[in-house]
Amino acid sequence: MNLTGASALVTGGASGLGAATVRRLAAAGAHVVVLDLNEELGKELAEDVGGSFATADVTDPAAVDAALDIAEEHGPLRALVHCAGRGGTVRLVDRDGNPGDLDLYRRLVDINLVGTFNVLRLAATRMAGNEPLDGERGVCVLTASVAAWEGQVGQIPYASAKAGVVGMTLVAARDLATKGIRVNTIAPGVFDTPILARFSQEIRDGLGAQVPNPARLGHPDEYAMLAQQIVENPYLNGETIRLDGAIRMSPR
Ligand SMILES: NC(=O)c1ccc[n+]([C@@H]2O[C@H](COP(=O)([O-])OP(=O)(O)OC[C@H]3O[C@@H](n4cnc5c(N)ncnc54)[C@H](O)[C@@H]3O)[C@@H](O)[C@H]2O)c1
Repeated sequence: MNLTGASALVTGGASGLGAATVRRLAAAGAHVVVLDLNEELGKELAEDVGGSFATADVTDPAAVDAALDIAEEHGPLRALVHCAGRGGTVRLVDRDGNPGDLDLYRRLVDINLVGTFNVLRLAATRMAGNEPLDGERGVCVLTASVAAWEGQVGQIPYASAKAGVVGMTLVAARDLATKGIRVNTIAPGVFDTPILARFSQEIRDGLGAQVPNPARLGHPDEYAMLAQQIVENPYLNGETIRLDGAIRMSPR
């Protein structure tokens, strides 16, 4: 998919993996709409790359639609990279012996899984109205996590939601096949982004050392490189790709 003259939506685009992807897609010629809850960082980045910013919660249909309207003012929406997401800890039985927090479980599944479905359905609807370009109308990249297979203790909501994203990838590609829209998912291992900022440097170094090769945290641009390749390679479809330096997470 050639992005020259097209628009692209990057959710969670203000920070981390999304921000690196915003820079790559803008360099590839797209008008990029940075969708995020973080207005300050999002606006700054959008300005920097000549794109637009839209404040939206990915679970809010009207707000996501408004962001898509902005994108289409600058060209047909040809690419979606959905990075917005967040972690959070719930244990089945908490430290005081009480059942795990059901509301927090619901909230985290809502953001990470329902939000993915919401963004995907709304973006795909716009793409379905595009004129085909080299046989394609658009391409969507979703973000799971290696926690979809190796969730660590406390990651029940996050792991369930990300496994749901892996599960929807092939069926979404099948669903959208007749419309000429591809869907793929990236499952990152441990990346050096603000999501890890709450950990000390020592813990971050320790996490990096657990990666077999290269023995370090991933750079956000390495995620963005893969997102760009998925956008550009017309034969890549219906797949979840682990991007993790061969790490397999331990139980804790
Ligand atoms: N960094 C890692 O090691 C890692 C590993 C596996 C998976 N992931 C996944 O990659 C994605 C990006 O993570 P990151 O490390 O770049 O995190 P990050 O915290 O740097 O960026 C996430 C961005 O998403 C935004 N966001 C969160 N909830 C939102 C919502 N409901 N609506 C709109 N925007 C929202 C935040 O404001 C933030 O700017 C997430 O889905 C995360 O689960 C990250």
